[in-house]
Amino acid sequence: MTGGVGYIGSHIAVALVEHGYTPVLLDNLSRSDDSIPDRINELCGFNVPLYKTDCRDRDGLRKLLDAEGGVDGVIHLAAYKSVGESVKIPLTYFDNNISAMTALLDIMVSERLNNLVFSSSCTVYGVPDHREVTEKTPFGNAFSPYGFTKQACERLMADVARSEPWMRQVSLRYFNPIGAHPSGKLGELPGGVPDNLIPYVTQTAAGQRDHITIFGSDYDTPDGTCVRDYVHVCDVAEAHVRALNYVSESDIALDTFNIGTGRGHSVKEIIDIFRRVNKTEVRSEEGPRRPGDVDAIYANVDKASATLGWTSKYTVEEALKHAWEWQKSL
Ligand code: WQD
Repeated sequence: MTGGVGYIGSHIAVALVEHGYTPVLLDNLSRSDDSIPDRINELCGFNVPLYKTDCRDRDGLRKLLDAEGGVDGVIHLAAYKSVGESVKIPLTYFDNNISAMTALLDIMVSERLNNLVFSSSCTVYGVPDHREVTEKTPFGNAFSPYGFTKQACERLMADVARSEPWMRQVSLRYFNPIGAHPSGKLGELPGGVPDNLIPYVTQTAAGQRDHITIFGSDYDTPDGTCVRDYVHVCDVAEAHVRALNYVSESDIALDTFNIGTGRGHSVKEIIDIFRRVNKTEVRSEEGPRRPGDVDAIYANVDKASATLGWTSKYTVEEALKHAWEWQKSL
């Protein structure tokens, strides 16, 4: 698994072990906390092999394969993921995210490695015509360089699916992964000021930030704030295990699944639920819209349910409780 030490990758590593897989992690550790590998090992009950390698480094990828005697499948998460940062340093995003995918596919083709599960995003839909999106909803105009890199990676997969008919690939389009491992031992560790809603809320509740600014309260939504589909990170992790099983057994060359709960929550609802379930105050203020935000988007998850047998298990209340327990443990 590339990006195996990140927020989502670390939860997938634990889920893989729970399902009897033996993960091998690759990560350049450029955006991760030093404590995470030990935390993964503790939850997995053994030292999970970790290669400190950049995914763009083809020789490094080959070394991993030689040392491990090959792999049965690849989960590819290694990428930068901040929408705002990607606008400031687009070339870094193109280089890191697209070159990593190119190098990985190159090695998979040359070594005839099969079974790829790719970490994509609902951002590929841009501003959809309908708020509930299915996998058939076309790509929209990518607002950010980050969004463009996810579209580009999916395009690379589609082209390789045509040139290499033996290859099996699945793309998982996550909506908004949130929460933390119920043990309180794994979670999100954003460096600096968080871009995303939940880490900003938890840091505000912890007193590290004075208040959270609600970006826009005049949207065409029931309470005027943006609506998103927030899905527990452990459910997202479980989806990868299902996708890996599916890609290994299926005859379909390339498939795509939305990974969300199928339900939207507004920013105000999320902050209110957080306050209620955690019995803690979070100061909030209404502010201007954030450029590039879509008013409302949530997943149609019928396909993941029918094909992967996957649906989210955790409620948003549980996810927000776990996020707070994680924040308090830091
Ligand atoms: C959620 C809502 C904000 C911060 C992005 C990517 C997506 C995925 C997740 C992953 C929005 C509002 C936020 C704040 C706020 N990428 N908000 N005050 O933009 O839906 O999705 O991250 O790698 O692909 O596009 O997530 O958490 O930034 O925002 O009001 O301080 O919270 O406006 O409505 P987003 P987010």
